[in-house]
Amino acid sequence: MRNHTFPENFLWGGATAANQIEGGFYEGNKGLNIADVLPGGKERLSILQSPGFNFEVDSEKYYYPNHEAIDFYHRYKEDIALFAEMGFKVFRMSIAWTRIFPKGTELEANEEGLAFYDRVFDELHKYAIEPVVTISHYEMPLNLVKEYGGWRNREVITFFERYVLAIFNRYKNKVKYWMTFNEINSGFIMPIQGLGFSIQKESDKYQPTFQAFHHQFVASSIAVKACHEIIPNAKIGNMILYAPVYAYDSDPENVMYALQEERIFNYFCADMQVRGEYPAYIKRYFKEHGIELEIEDADLDLIKEGTVDFIGFSYYMSRTEKMDKSDSTNSEGNLIGGVKNPYLQASDWGWEIDPVGLRISLNQLYDRYQIPLFVVENGLGAYDKVEADGSINDDYRIDFLKNHIQAMAEGLKDGVELMGYTSWGCIDLVSASSGQFSKRYGFIYVDKHDDGSGTLERKKKKSFFWYQNVIKSNGEKL
Ligand code: BG6
Repeated sequence: MRNHTFPENFLWGGATAANQIEGGFYEGNKGLNIADVLPGGKERLSILQSPGFNFEVDSEKYYYPNHEAIDFYHRYKEDIALFAEMGFKVFRMSIAWTRIFPKGTELEANEEGLAFYDRVFDELHKYAIEPVVTISHYEMPLNLVKEYGGWRNREVITFFERYVLAIFNRYKNKVKYWMTFNEINSGFIMPIQGLGFSIQKESDKYQPTFQAFHHQFVASSIAVKACHEIIPNAKIGNMILYAPVYAYDSDPENVMYALQEERIFNYFCADMQVRGEYPAYIKRYFKEHGIELEIEDADLDLIKEGTVDFIGFSYYMSRTEKMDKSDSTNSEGNLIGGVKNPYLQASDWGWEIDPVGLRISLNQLYDRYQIPLFVVENGLGAYDKVEADGSINDDYRIDFLKNHIQAMAEGLKDGVELMGYTSWGCIDLVSASSGQFSKRYGFIYVDKHDDGSGTLERKKKKSFFWYQNVIKSNGEKL
């Protein structure tokens, strides 16, 4: 398969998050964050959201995979050398807020934390790899969760502002691609990770969720404005979880339902961060759900002034919806819900595989917003087998990525402005939703297992060489 579609400066690379790779959870004066109290196993999010959960580490009772993760904290040089060998132009990572402000509330930043990321950025630059930094990726300081109630509390904006000013000033000569909140709209489905509080009753979710989002929009705009001022040559984007919503059939009721779900889940946060104002459809939604936001005088101007330069998004799956689901099978694996799509296969974790959905997403987002897009997450979580000769033949992963890259090529031909592609979990890491190591995404295998055993040795999978060739040929050789 050959195509000549990818622009010369296309940003090929891989993506990770601090809490899922670093480990060293108690080193360098780092404070605890929300990921540090997440046990391993598929129930991890429900444990965290259960009534009475005390947000303490209880090592007698649970194993915590994020505490050591894959030990990037000590092995970053080896890992970055492998990324360089694949030819990465960019590496997406996050800064752990609690390495910089261990409790979130300090007035002074923690020098050891700042120095760690200096070393990582310097190492990346040694190989001409540009960092793409997510400012907040499901790793809110635990203190802000416990003592402040997460993003429901307006004070958190001040702490966040202090954090972003510290990192922009420190890294102004080292980082030119930034993103504010990872998958900001995932606050609808995993509020504890994204918004820093849990919701016990479905009916209680509306007011606090939208109030917390409002605070994040203000915080995001503060970050965008500060970034433009402090690092004028930088680009700063938002980051959304995008999953196109298909109507199950042509029943207009189902089409309208799918449209409404799409607007609330896919577009609301992006409308706020790209267009900078509350859209009409959400005002009706607020009225119907009795939501009355506390908005301070300057907030709306600030949101309007602090709109993003590009849209970063994750793409894993699409979602199929109908109003009455009683006669349908739910798509159990899809985190975002919906019914089973009869045309799609699913991964071992039940995530529906839909490369055409990526082309649809690119077109929908570009038609709506007309600003550059960046696919900052996409990949296949799968079980890998190490053969007796040490090889790992992950053809299923190659197929998945090939089809999605081909879909991006189609999107580019459609006229979409696309900055780059960072596939998720370019090196095996801790799964965010299940806490497993066995749900592997990487081109690089890490010898680490669900019970915490393993040597942490790194091995190149078959996909490593395949991706190296994709980058070398700028997407021509898939
Ligand atoms: C995205 C997150 O939702 O999906 C990542 O931004 C996450 O943090 C990725 O790891 C894949 O999900 P999972 O649950 O398979 O790790």
